Amino acid sequence: MTSANAAEKRLLKALKRQPVDRVPVWLMRQAGRYLPEYRKVRAEAGGFLDLCYTPDFAEEVTLQPIRRYGFDASILFSDILVVPDALGQPVAFKEGEGPVLEPITHADGIAALKPVAVIREKLQPVYETVRRLRISLPAETTLIGFAGAPWTVATYMVGGRGSPDQAAAKAWAYRAPDEFQKLIDLLVAATIEHLSAQVEAGVEVVQLFDTWAGSLPELSFERFALKPMLEIRVALKARFPDLPVIGFPRGAGPMTAQYFRATKLDALSLDTAMSPGWARDNLQSLGCLQGNLDPLLLVAGGPEMRRQALAILDTLGKGPFIFNLGHGIVPQTPPEHVAELVEIVRGWRV
Ligand code: CP3
Repeated sequence: MTSANAAEKRLLKALKRQPVDRVPVWLMRQAGRYLPEYRKVRAEAGGFLDLCYTPDFAEEVTLQPIRRYGFDASILFSDILVVPDALGQPVAFKEGEGPVLEPITHADGIAALKPVAVIREKLQPVYETVRRLRISLPAETTLIGFAGAPWTVATYMVGGRGSPDQAAAKAWAYRAPDEFQKLIDLLVAATIEHLSAQVEAGVEVVQLFDTWAGSLPELSFERFALKPMLEIRVALKARFPDLPVIGFPRGAGPMTAQYFRATKLDALSLDTAMSPGWARDNLQSLGCLQGNLDPLLLVAGGPEMRRQALAILDTLGKGPFIFNLGHGIVPQTPPEHVAELVEIVRGWRV
């Protein structure tokens, strides 16, 4: 049997708009604190970045949700903020606080960052984890690599932490757009290198997370979210013509249609607020869609989760479609609800 054959992997078929025997499923943040076995390894590793940079640990936590649920895809365990960390802006993850960085607020701060070439050297352990996963993952499981989109990563680099309104990055982008563009350009180049190294090590698909894309007004969205993504897609396809690229412009609303058309990505991950019916009518002819169950329905479980999961499947399930959440799994999710959800998706037929 050649189940290892890429042509037979369900998730890759959906991304290439080929017919599938059933809807493929994986979940954003499928590895993480909701799993007791993750918390155990996390405690052993010490810091969160130690976990990301130690292939033994990172491989193990990537495999944990695959063992439990047999998802169709495995997403490399890492973080979008390893890129600024590698560029010389150290990232600390503080308990209950999320990521903390020394903010970059001036052009001098951009100039002081290391050249993009350090990415491949500094992030070697991440690529080693990928090489190991290609050996240890089941043959039918697709390995997804990822990076943050430049705008979202920039919001953390400039703000120094997560914020509800991305005010620090916006202040700079509006006061001195051409200066701020230099940071975006650097991140475009760094992201291309980081994703290329992941592909060379063995990832089969890449996803770009633009968590804060939806906070930008249209003209800034075009410049700082859409255009960088187009540049990244063009560069990746020049190097790896068959590589599927998924985008997640969270909160982009109706701007999502223009984004999908202009970037020509293979697939779009839909956030929780996106109407599946609107997405079917306006987006699905452009490529594969992925999403978009509310992660809090997964916390609740029960009949309401089933009803809303089936509604998404009934609307988008004819494909091309990949079932996922509208954002990442939250720590208070009961692991048995994930098993229930996977059963619902596996049992659904067109
Ligand atoms: O399973 C997976 O999805 C793979 C791993 C993954 C992580 N982060 C692990 C992680 C992925 C794909 C990410 C992406 C990421 N990281 C994003 C974009 C997607 C999104 O959720 O919007 C963003 C904005 C980050 C930055 C980040 N990392 C924040 C804001 C936080 C703190 C919030 C939190 O949940 O604690 C992290 C930490 C982080 N990244 C954890 C995990 C499992 C929790 C760390 C811990 O164990 O303490």
